[in-house]
Amino acid sequence: MKKQSLCCRLNGKRELGGGVVRLDFEWPGPPPRAGQFFMVKPARSSVFLARPLSVAACGVNAAAFLAAVRGKGTAELAAMTPGEQALLTGPFGKDWAGFMPQNAAKPALLLSGGLGIAPLAAFSVELRRASVNFDFLAGFKRSADGINIISALGIGRDEVEIAGEDISGQSNVRYGLVTDFLDAQNYSAVFACGPAVMMRNAALLCRKAGTPCFVSLETRMACGTGACLGCAVPVKGGGYRRCCADGPVFDAGEVFFDE
Ligand SMILES: Cc1cc2nc3c(=O)[nH]c(=O)nc-3n(C[C@H](O)[C@H](O)[C@H](O)COP(=O)(O)OP(=O)(O)OC[C@H]3O[C@@H](n4cnc5c(N)ncnc54)[C@H](O)[C@@H]3O)c2cc1C
Ligand code: FES
Repeated sequence: MKKQSLCCRLNGKRELGGGVVRLDFEWPGPPPRAGQFFMVKPARSSVFLARPLSVAACGVNAAAFLAAVRGKGTAELAAMTPGEQALLTGPFGKDWAGFMPQNAAKPALLLSGGLGIAPLAAFSVELRRASVNFDFLAGFKRSADGINIISALGIGRDEVEIAGEDISGQSNVRYGLVTDFLDAQNYSAVFACGPAVMMRNAALLCRKAGTPCFVSLETRMACGTGACLGCAVPVKGGGYRRCCADGPVFDAGEVFFDE
């Protein structure tokens, strides 16, 4: 698919607490698919490189992202106000749907940790539209933050099961790590995005159950186009793959996770 680099207006911004914002941009370029990402930076920026952000939602001429402030690049994005312009380049990378098993007898599982929910929320919209059966299990450190994020993504509370390490004041959420509730054998495939340790545990449980598992990797990126090799990750069987162009979605069986 052709990528474009466009100066786009920030149409809306919503603060979700804990340094997380939802940013809604105009995007008149090629429509992204769930799992893909854009390189984003404000038009007036002090950072040289744009930062990769996964598509959390998209519509006609619009793309939305969740951004957590980590350093200067994400702080600048989070400080933008509606009406300002940002440079968006994309869409980049492989999408989730390309890994979906055909004619599966069991449902798929979307499994997220923290802001890993962003690309999976977009995938849930695609699956619902295609009448594909799936469950959605989302883990957060604080379930109260998770409930805010889920609501900002337009996901109904009955469409996702929430697990939290701190569930104080919340009903209808499960106490524990999201992988504590992963029954891999019940699924045709598991699509996971979140901290590396969470994806590693999901991959292990899936391997034991013989269930295919696909993960979206996060690496530092420079070009986003496959040219600089700055995002290369070693893969089993030898060699490297570029997270931006060969991923970010990979078969978990290929990936070395940090121990
Ligand atoms: C494909 C992809 C999709 C992403 N989607 C999202 C998203 O939807 N929402 C979101 O908030 N973030 C997302 N990220 C991560 C985001 O791109 C980084 O947080 C951002 O680039 C950090 O830039 P910064 O200038 O704010 O921080 P920097 O100053 O560059 O870094 C701040 C700190 O974070 C660490 N860090 C920075 N980037 C990464 C990284 N990729 N992995 C591990 N540690 C890192 C640095 O080592 C440093 O300690 C995604 C990354 C990738 C590769
Ligand atoms: S970021 Fe340059 S090759 Fe991936």
